[in-house]
Amino acid sequence: MARSTGNPRSKEVARGLEGVIESDSSITLLDGASNKLYYRGYDVTELARHSTFEDVAELLWTGELPTLSQRNNLLHRLASMRKCPPGLRTFLPQIPRDMAPLDALRTAMSALSPHDAPSPGTDGAAQREMAERLTSLAPTLITDLVRLGKGMAPLDPDPSLSHSEDFLRRLTGSIRSQEENRVFESVLVLHADHEMNTSTFAARVAASTSADMVSGVTSAIATLKGPLHGGAGEQVMEMVESIGKPEDADRFIRAKLERRERIMGFGHRVYRGEDPRATVLRELSRERAERTGDSRIHDILTEVERSVRKHRGLFPNVDLYSGSIYHSLGISRELHGSIFAAARMPGWTAHIMEEYADLRLICPQARYVGRPPRQLPEDRTGVVAGSR
Ligand SMILES: CC(C)(COP(=O)(O)OP(=O)(O)OC[C@H]1O[C@@H](n2cnc3c(N)ncnc32)[C@H](O)[C@@H]1OP(=O)(O)O)[C@@H](O)C(=O)NCCC(=O)NCCS
Repeated sequence: MARSTGNPRSKEVARGLEGVIESDSSITLLDGASNKLYYRGYDVTELARHSTFEDVAELLWTGELPTLSQRNNLLHRLASMRKCPPGLRTFLPQIPRDMAPLDALRTAMSALSPHDAPSPGTDGAAQREMAERLTSLAPTLITDLVRLGKGMAPLDPDPSLSHSEDFLRRLTGSIRSQEENRVFESVLVLHADHEMNTSTFAARVAASTSADMVSGVTSAIATLKGPLHGGAGEQVMEMVESIGKPEDADRFIRAKLERRERIMGFGHRVYRGEDPRATVLRELSRERAERTGDSRIHDILTEVERSVRKHRGLFPNVDLYSGSIYHSLGISRELHGSIFAAARMPGWTAHIMEEYADLRLICPQARYVGRPPRQLPEDRTGVVAGSR
């Protein structure tokens, strides 16, 4: 792959790496000017409507949508890898029950044996198999940890169900309707990749050191956690509960903005207008509200949106409406970040494999603004040994 030489010793500081292009990538196009998102050339809003999670995983990993038989093969392979490995089965109950779900997932993920995890030297088939294993296992770790946290035994995976159906079953404790399964799958598809975002960058930074894939994914989960990234969704739902009813949204938002606080679920580094995923999620949230006959959360969010737009001119991002959908499916808000991580597994692993294929250590510099070089004071230049 042709590599730009860039300006190796520029003293320009790019705070937050804004506008910095670190590498070429052929996985996902985030077109911020026209507010569009494409996985391998396909519009994500179309994929959310028409594709399965398995389709999208195959697309991200290989560059092409699977044929029907490839889709079935992947479905069966992912289903066959869902069981918690024996070593982890004894480890999961030792994770403190009061740990936040995403912290627990990060801990569990990092306990997966890196011995058989591929790194750049490993062949492509082994890398791909590990990408499948991590994608398949994430829902198992999440749902097992939730149940263990409540003092309940984990639910065995059901290999007759698709990846997203079995994930939703184990999250909620029962097989859900076709409509609910489809909505959940669309949400997973919308979260499956997002070009060079912060957690993906973390995964690629780890991969660029030739670290194994488990380390890359663990770095990504750790980075996803913050409220400016994957933690925003949970905070949106906390905000909804603080607002209470739609007619109080505007007052709440105005007060928050006056205090110069950020409104979670709004704004984006790259999109100039509405995040295309938010457009689909708003529609799914509205449909769920209609179907369940409970529109309180959706109505609060639309009022929040109106208010933030009016007073700050900001557009919603992926995190504004997803919690409303999860709530309608009976999923508690603490799991928002973990579901995000599980959905992003194909994207993170696709990026790690892309990094392995064209390895270059990611090692930026800082512009030093501290004290200039200076001498140690005289009274500190004696022999240190034994002086304490
Ligand atoms: C996502 C986010 C971090 C991107 O921000 P960014 O590109 O780094 O932009 P900045 O943080 O430099 O913000 C630019 C300006 O817009 C404001 N702004 C951006 N997002 C805002 C938000 N959600 N609420 C209030 N103000 C916001 C900033 O305060 C800043 O204003 P200022 O110039 O007066 O100080 C930011 O929009 C944000 O914090 N959003 C809320 C968290 C969230 O929803 N995260 C999920 C992202 S998918």
